[in-house]
Amino acid sequence: MAIKPVLRMGDPRLLIVSRPIERFDTPELRGLLGDMEDTMAALNGAGLAAPQIGVPLRVVIFGIEDNARYPDAEPVPYTVLINPVLTPIDNDFEDGWEGCLSVPGMRGLVPRYKRLRYQGFDVSGNAIDRTVEDFHARVVQHECDHLDGILYPMRVEDLRNFGFTAELFPGEDLTDD
Ligand code: NI
Repeated sequence: MAIKPVLRMGDPRLLIVSRPIERFDTPELRGLLGDMEDTMAALNGAGLAAPQIGVPLRVVIFGIEDNARYPDAEPVPYTVLINPVLTPIDNDFEDGWEGCLSVPGMRGLVPRYKRLRYQGFDVSGNAIDRTVEDFHARVVQHECDHLDGILYPMRVEDLRNFGFTAELFPGEDLTDD
């Protein structure tokens, strides 16, 4: 497997609506997931979507234990999620700061559903069905947005809450993505 270059905002491939996976448990799918895992680990990301490495398929990975980029976040188990379907539990939204490996060095304040159910499949085609909240719910929404060509700055409601990490959070020593 390999560390792949991550596309950056402005690359039109980040705006594509990705296609569903039709066959599970294939060498191609396992290879893609290996590349995504290596790339996310190398960049210390909380999540990565296949289109970010130029592959327009509905595959995301996410998970954080102790991540210097998100020092206050609760742990999220490492998850491979394929062909995801998200269903909000209610109409509660919460604002939170987000970053993205495709928008390096920046943060923005984004409203997301506070609670949601997500369904999908793992690499072998086993069903995943979880109901989550807070940071876990935020990460899933952020990653799945990539599959529809949406980057988090498009969801920032007040652009005064979007800027360079080092200026927004001086002295906090957040890892520069
Ligand atoms: Ni992202």
